[in-house]
Amino acid sequence: MNEQLVAQAARALKEARAVVVFTGAGVSAESGVPTFRDALTGLWARYRPEELATPQAFRANPKLVWDWYEFRRELVRAARPNPAHLAIAELQRLHPDLLVVTQNVDDLHEQAGSRDVLHLHGNIAQTKCFNNCQGTPTLVDISGWTIDPDHTPPACPHCGGWLRPNVVWFNEALPFDVLEAALEASQRCAAMLVIGTSGVVYPAARIPLNALARGIPVFDVNPYQSQFSQDAVWLPYPAGEVMPRIVEAYARL
Ligand code: APR
Repeated sequence: MNEQLVAQAARALKEARAVVVFTGAGVSAESGVPTFRDALTGLWARYRPEELATPQAFRANPKLVWDWYEFRRELVRAARPNPAHLAIAELQRLHPDLLVVTQNVDDLHEQAGSRDVLHLHGNIAQTKCFNNCQGTPTLVDISGWTIDPDHTPPACPHCGGWLRPNVVWFNEALPFDVLEAALEASQRCAAMLVIGTSGVVYPAARIPLNALARGIPVFDVNPYQSQFSQDAVWLPYPAGEVMPRIVEAYARL
């Protein structure tokens, strides 16, 4: 590992009054949650996420889409924070003004101890009505339900329509307040860590692009090239390996 890069990141974070940590599926990869653009395995190898994660796909085949999310929900349920999540939470304790913005629908940042995480794409553990029958999106708690796997998706208790996961699908709007807060932070921060995202999905990708356009230090933690690696300082390592090193170096400054 390039210790100079680690030291450079630690110094930039320490000197920045406000920091944004922007994460994607790669930060959870070492917890056993597959990223979106990894090839799907097993039962789901025939599909691409872009074909399953849309309202159109759900309307056409609600059972298929529900069952795919149930499969992912099980993976998330079994997952525990990895050293990258823990390091980010520790960095938030050390830094007076650090905001975590994630595209992930798991709660591994929270499990690791991060506070006030902005979730741009929702929460896979939650469920809501596909018809939005109560007006504003109302969550339906299905945690105590026994769901017959032959009759999925389960029915909304209010209108009898389909329940769906509380995640943002392709062709859907992001939660307005969350996106606004994240974009505002990207205009205000003085350094940004971008961790484990390909950077191909909008509007989320505008967050690192804003930071790059402002010329502040941006570090891209990703073992493979992302959309940001060329313009940011690229740390080409798995997040779980490099993040603890950066935080250790930060704590020594
Ligand atoms: N550490 C850091 N990065 C990693 C690791 C790791 N251990 N393993 C993989 N990565 C990187 C990959 O190289 C890739 O660039 O994580 C990235 C994952 O990219 P995507 O699968 O595209 O995930 P993400 O960028 O979060 O996708 C954005 O797309 O499907 C939608 O809504 C979904 O939130 C998701 C959005």
